Amino acid sequence: MKKLCLLLALLGCTLCLGATTDKKMDRFVSALMKKMTLREKIGQLNLQPAGNITTGGAMDTEVGSLVMNGDLGAILNQTGKDEIRAIQEVAVKRSRLGIPLLVGLDVIHGYRTILPIPLAQACSWDIPAIEGGARIAAEECSSDGISWTYSPMVDIALDARWGRIMEGSGEDPYLGSLIAAALVRGYQGDFKEKHNIMACLKHYALYGAAEAGRDYNTVDMSRWRMFNQYMPPYEAAVRAGVGSVMTSFNIVDGQHATANPWLLDEVLRRKWGFEGFVVTDYASITEMTSWGFGSQKENGIQALKAGTDMDMCAQAFLHHCEAAVSEGLLKVQDIDRACRRVLEAKYKLGLFEDPYKHCDMSDEEQARHIFTPEHRRAARDLAAETFVLLKNDGGILPLKKQGKVALIGPNADTTDGLLGSWCVVRPQRDAYPSLLSAMREYLQGKAEVLYAQGCNLTNDERQDKAGMANAPYRTVPRVDSRQALTEALKVAADADVIVFAGGEGAEWSGESHSRADLSLSDCQKRLLSALQSLGKPLVVLNFSGRPTEMGWLKQNVPVLMNVWFGGTETGPALCDVLFGDKAPSGHLTVSLPQVTGQEPLYYNHLNTGRPVRDDDDTFRQYQGNYFEVSNGPAFPFGYGLSYTTFSYGEMQVAQDGRNVTATVSVTNTGDREAAEVVQCYIHDVACRYARPVKELKGFERITLRPGQTQTVSIRLTERELSSYDAEGNLFFEAGAFDIMMGGNSRDVQTKRIEMK
Ligand code: BGC
Repeated sequence: MKKLCLLLALLGCTLCLGATTDKKMDRFVSALMKKMTLREKIGQLNLQPAGNITTGGAMDTEVGSLVMNGDLGAILNQTGKDEIRAIQEVAVKRSRLGIPLLVGLDVIHGYRTILPIPLAQACSWDIPAIEGGARIAAEECSSDGISWTYSPMVDIALDARWGRIMEGSGEDPYLGSLIAAALVRGYQGDFKEKHNIMACLKHYALYGAAEAGRDYNTVDMSRWRMFNQYMPPYEAAVRAGVGSVMTSFNIVDGQHATANPWLLDEVLRRKWGFEGFVVTDYASITEMTSWGFGSQKENGIQALKAGTDMDMCAQAFLHHCEAAVSEGLLKVQDIDRACRRVLEAKYKLGLFEDPYKHCDMSDEEQARHIFTPEHRRAARDLAAETFVLLKNDGGILPLKKQGKVALIGPNADTTDGLLGSWCVVRPQRDAYPSLLSAMREYLQGKAEVLYAQGCNLTNDERQDKAGMANAPYRTVPRVDSRQALTEALKVAADADVIVFAGGEGAEWSGESHSRADLSLSDCQKRLLSALQSLGKPLVVLNFSGRPTEMGWLKQNVPVLMNVWFGGTETGPALCDVLFGDKAPSGHLTVSLPQVTGQEPLYYNHLNTGRPVRDDDDTFRQYQGNYFEVSNGPAFPFGYGLSYTTFSYGEMQVAQDGRNVTATVSVTNTGDREAAEVVQCYIHDVACRYARPVKELKGFERITLRPGQTQTVSIRLTERELSSYDAEGNLFFEAGAFDIMMGGNSRDVQTKRIEMK
């Protein structure tokens, strides 16, 4: 009771504090807005790239004069605390009202300590570690002038052809929601600490559902599907208090997401209670004209009216809003509303109190926050948890730290090639190791590491160049194929074991990097087949920014680990796992296809009237299957092996009212400590709306010593057993439910229960 009182007192106190801050903020912002001209208010809604700010010449740039005139509220794509301070000083000291700038950047998976790509991070199923990663990213970028990150990207993506699948958490809305909220917490904290920055939820909404996996393409789906499959992570981030939201490039219900009152007002603000500000994606208002929505002026007006508050890079608000007000097309209140939201964001971040809070460090102090040994250690630990062991025939892994290891493949001796797309600020290339140098250091004095590149990422010049579109350099050098193959075979012949590092290039995924063919390139397949004919133990590390085609690899190689792009600490993290200092524990959060033609492929699909088993590869007339392959993936959602084995006892399911508890005991039956992800799925057997064959509704990541048994209980409430109708209302329907538990989405035990 005492504890409860204390908690209530504390809660009351926090609520009061919150209310006081809100009132103080209201008073502050209202007083400021009274002093502002209409033009200055519109200026706050304008976001532009900084260009090339220098410390001496910030005022003389185009952006500098916009800032001085009060025509700019925020900048993006500027890094460097001194340069940022220079432009912030222009805002504070040279503009009429001294309103500080918001400074934004895409800090997507780390700032200088580059973390694994978000899709990889999700495969750790380690929510606290993911939250910790966001905290590290916030600490690093806020020590270099950044106060606002364009993350988390929480778009559910079901089609692996879409390159931006690497930026999200995969195909599951439940897991995606937990990660979305964790990232918001990690970046923002309570906005009180120096290193708290503002997060920006993106891309609202449905960007990941681009048709045919082609970036920026049409999206069209029912509201019922949206609410059940795509909206939950956005809602979770909003409920976690995200400060800003970015609209998406696509249309939703035929209207552009940037000028969509249903999305921005009805759902985001009224249904979910979002209180921050909405920013467009890059020049979205300009793009609306190509979509066929009219002139830039018309689109700017529509966007603002619909609930978009800040215009990224189109300058539509700046150029047209004043005139629109005098012509009666916009009300002053429309502008006031947006301006207030932007000013409130600056207030929450504490920028009015101290505009230089993120750009005031000395170089020495800054060095204590960026690319530190602690951050690199955390990134290494997280990376090790993201690798997903798919096959380990003959228990070849872990490798022994002795003899000769031949490290071969296009991704073996690259540093940039380990980072993955979306690292705006890269550490110096020699500040972190390639896999080759990490392995040499790791095995120093114990084993010898031989090396050959062996082949190009692909011999298709067109694809190779397209992959490099974002990079001013090649992540992997071009080699003469024949010569490289001969050399690799020679090197491998001299070794005890071969480790092949191949797959995709680091720049083959990310924005505008869609692929129509997800298979391993022919030249890599050729090299692998040749290496295999040597009859030595062969380990394949598949680097990828998306689910890639697994049919050939699954059939042809004995040991296979998906390693994504693990960031600056990839090399040491891979050594930890390959040589057994850590056991693999990653589990897939995307289904890996057998062939590209299966995409979009996802475990939580609906049944049909003619259900086909995922593993049934007999072609049957008038059934929903393919001629060539079964419907299921090569490796299912939730799948991942370790160096030990886990056995599951019989699942028990207990009901109490509308709550269900599923319990299972899990035993480590192998001889080494390792982590397992115990997963719980449901299927609503009969419902007035169709329900997926399986839906993840709970999980626990546990670590067990050899022989240890742990009982895992997952409690499902009415909330988890409910789903959305076509209007987005959550409803529960009594009847039969299948409750499932297991170590992946395919191998589960099932019990049917009746809910009243
Ligand atoms: C991307 C966004 C990004 C923005 C700013 C756009 O092209 O779609 O995700 O935040 O650029 O860099």
